[in-house]
Amino acid sequence: MQKPKIKTFYTCQSCGHKSPKWLGKCPDCNEWNSFVEERYFEEKGRRGSLAAEEKAVPQPITRVSSKEEDRFQSSMSELDRVLGGGIVLGSAILIGGDPGIGKSTLLLQAMGKLAKTGALVLYTTGEESPRQIKMRAERLNISSDNLLIYAEISLERILDSIKKIKPKVIVIDSIQTIYTENLESAPGSVSQIRETAYQLILLAKAMDVPVFLVGHVTKDGSIAGPRVLEHMVDTVLYFEGERGHPFRILRAVKNRYGSVMEIGVFEMKDIGLEEVLNPSALFLAERPENAPGSVVVSSLEGTRPILVEVQSLVCQTVFGMPRRTVVGIEAARVSVLVAVLEKKIGLNMANQDIFLKVAGGLKLEEPAVDLGIIASIASNYLDKPVNPKTVVFGEVGLAGEVRAINQADLRLKEALSLGFERCIIPKDNAKKTGTRGKGQGAGKLEIIGVASVKEAMDVLF
Ligand code: TYD
Ligand code: MG
Repeated sequence: MQKPKIKTFYTCQSCGHKSPKWLGKCPDCNEWNSFVEERYFEEKGRRGSLAAEEKAVPQPITRVSSKEEDRFQSSMSELDRVLGGGIVLGSAILIGGDPGIGKSTLLLQAMGKLAKTGALVLYTTGEESPRQIKMRAERLNISSDNLLIYAEISLERILDSIKKIKPKVIVIDSIQTIYTENLESAPGSVSQIRETAYQLILLAKAMDVPVFLVGHVTKDGSIAGPRVLEHMVDTVLYFEGERGHPFRILRAVKNRYGSVMEIGVFEMKDIGLEEVLNPSALFLAERPENAPGSVVVSSLEGTRPILVEVQSLVCQTVFGMPRRTVVGIEAARVSVLVAVLEKKIGLNMANQDIFLKVAGGLKLEEPAVDLGIIASIASNYLDKPVNPKTVVFGEVGLAGEVRAINQADLRLKEALSLGFERCIIPKDNAKKTGTRGKGQGAGKLEIIGVASVKEAMDVLF
């Protein structure tokens, strides 16, 4: 028998850059001392193709069948929402998140529900023993003969089992624990992750089975091992949450089969994760009413407007540079808005520390929260509370103008359904909804259109 050829190369453990010789500094990610020697047994004809078993040939696009986007529901509506409306057959989904955030719990619950509907699920675990999983499943009240727990870390054996069992869904928890015998490096190294994920994805595509890969996250927040993994899969989800908070947010950062704007909201309880179908109510639950600096803003997350509280604290700088500490919003955005407050409203922030926080651990990225941030800082600075029944939204420009934002109607509807009585919104948006004004569409909501930050201040304080 012909001996397999051994190839040696060096891989950066931080970004996956390959080099034929050892390097002290990675030319790609500039990391020092990150190259590790890896050896690879090369086999002929090992690579497959993405078009099922037979060899792929170039063909006219008109003849490519478009049945690809076949989806099925996972019976967990928040997960389906983030995936773009269900699990796509043959798709590879990477779920990243800090250790202990609840990735295994989320998948076990979703798979438990799926198995109950009759689908055969293969849950491969390299981190916990079947007994540990069983104990957790009992707590989560999951029991089904269709849920197969498989404690295995050898890629070759996992692939064999998948071919034999032909499950409807595969979970690999986690990709960092799986290894292939073709590589000499340890499980969790960049080459191992890349190779095992590649093989699993290939098989999943060939068999039309969706595969969930769990990935751990490094200190700097990216999925440990490589960016390469993010390129290989169809969908990348992050499961986030703050320590000490029960809220968990599932966010798509890449999705070939749907929008990346959608978020799924969960609450971690002692009987597992509970889907939060009305996140606004949850995020506003502990709001202190009539506290200066507390303002309710509206942020559109995908197709769903979420009302959330922004809080700020403005106090005299004791020494040196004034501090700007921001949680949940990009700090540079807040600096810009503070500058607008100084120049256009004349509030003197030069000797004030500003602390700003989004309640509930949510991250706000939408420009529509600009006006709310300004209102919050001004409210605390002036020590005047904003009416607690008020929602504020609008984008703010550098000239102090308030710009129109999209989906104002959706946001107003959400505000109304949660019992708010007044909305301060961009004038241009108010003009469009304004005709309906206090009438039907807006219900009892008082809509006040403002064209500038100055006008907003006059209305608010
Ligand atoms: P886990 O799913 O193991 O996290 P990951 O796979 O992301 O590392 O989650 C473990 C945490 O979740 C642990 O700190 C306990 C908590 N938890 C609950 O609060 N309630 C529950 O019902 C379960 C199963 C876990
Ligand atoms: Mg886990």
